[in-house]
Amino acid sequence: MTIKILNTKSGTTISKYIYGHFSEHLGRCIYEGLYVGEDSPIPNKNGMRTDVVEALKNIKIPVLRWPGGCFADEYHWKDGIGPKENRKTIVNTHWGGVTENNHFGTHEFFELVKQLECEAYVNGNVGSGTVQEMSEWVEYITMNGISPMADWRRENGHEEAWSMKFFGVGNENWGCGGNMRPEYYADLYRRYQTYVRQYGDQKIYKVAGGANVDDYHWTKTLMKNAHWLMDGLSLHYYVHPQGWEKKGSALAFDEAEWIITCQKAAHMDELITRHSAIMDQYDPEKRVGIIVDEWGTWFSAEPGTNPGFLYQQNTIRDAMVAAITLNIFHKHAERVHMANIAQTVNVLQAMILTDGEKMVKTPSYHVFDLYKVHQDAERIESHGAASETITYTVSKQADTLHLSICNFAVSGSEAISFDFETAIQGIKEARYIVGDKMNAHNDFDHPEDVVIQSFEDYTTNNSQLTINIPAMSVLTISLAV
Ligand code: AHR
Repeated sequence: MTIKILNTKSGTTISKYIYGHFSEHLGRCIYEGLYVGEDSPIPNKNGMRTDVVEALKNIKIPVLRWPGGCFADEYHWKDGIGPKENRKTIVNTHWGGVTENNHFGTHEFFELVKQLECEAYVNGNVGSGTVQEMSEWVEYITMNGISPMADWRRENGHEEAWSMKFFGVGNENWGCGGNMRPEYYADLYRRYQTYVRQYGDQKIYKVAGGANVDDYHWTKTLMKNAHWLMDGLSLHYYVHPQGWEKKGSALAFDEAEWIITCQKAAHMDELITRHSAIMDQYDPEKRVGIIVDEWGTWFSAEPGTNPGFLYQQNTIRDAMVAAITLNIFHKHAERVHMANIAQTVNVLQAMILTDGEKMVKTPSYHVFDLYKVHQDAERIESHGAASETITYTVSKQADTLHLSICNFAVSGSEAISFDFETAIQGIKEARYIVGDKMNAHNDFDHPEDVVIQSFEDYTTNNSQLTINIPAMSVLTISLAV
């Protein structure tokens, strides 16, 4: 099989925000995963786990969404500011019914974002919050001059306004965010977003709460009634191989379930195509982005853990889902302006798992590492069909082409030749991850069963690169042309 790469043509930029992450007050994502508090024996800076922050910086995390999720529409931000000992304790009714002390609030989130050197995506509360509450939160975060909220922020120890690039007006308002009809939410969106004021020079990118999976009526209604008032419209889609009720195990599955999982990941292509086609009717220039701010695998919780904490292991199968999905986002880069995998640490398809002071990087983390070269790169078009189990992206940064390929077959390998329009000047780097079994994974006793290795099974000949791609692998080759 030969694929022709049109590397002399310029293409669309793949937004780095497609590589965004999501952190909710859910299970051990925020507390324990990202934030351990200043007094913890676990190494931390201002309460943020040093090992986790460093690992996330290594994959160039571009943006972090917070505080939810379903939690966002029950979160009252004023409970989470001021001296920690005075903060109100609250019950997290969505996630395990646990009581939390609100020690991670607005100041702590922006401290985390600062340490990660990434952008902030804050999700406001429409379901149970008032317009005034949302409006004051934006003022508290972004107002630099004299104002009641800016003065209060200063009293609480932060002189300068923070930079908040993205703001979500509610979450899943068709479900946990208020069980609304799209007509009703569209009106509420119009009203709430009016008071998301711009105080500084930075324009806030407003994200309207979008559809669940294939609810095209929701997208149509939102676009028809409010497209000119939004910058992005969200879309949520999770892969659960056995359906929502049963979900399926993260570690114990057979080949049939592997295939279903990969097929369900590939379904993202149809979802984006169809939602985007509806959006085209109102926004043919694709000004309004699809913001896939929740995606990834959602399996049954690990046996022995709190089912409300959504803790699951992460295998080479998750790596396939990550690579398949990222390749789809690249393909739709004109419309997909941001995506946020759910969730960063210890929840659903996590990058990182922690246990006390221990931390492991998951196979999904390694895909984000292999794929970080595509952030803000120019997508390169290609011709020629690969087999059904191959999915790939080619992009360009300066004089380097990056080719990432995922082979989600469970056995064998596949040889593919890539024909470039110009001669190959050299291979700069070739790295991959591969599974030796379908549920290959890292755990606290074996943290390096799946790691990035150097890849050597390729040949070059003038303008042709031939790669023998193993089953259950994700690889990135960087070359000069
Ligand atoms: O990511 C877990 C949950 O999934 C989020 O809180 C919610 O928005 C979605 O249903």
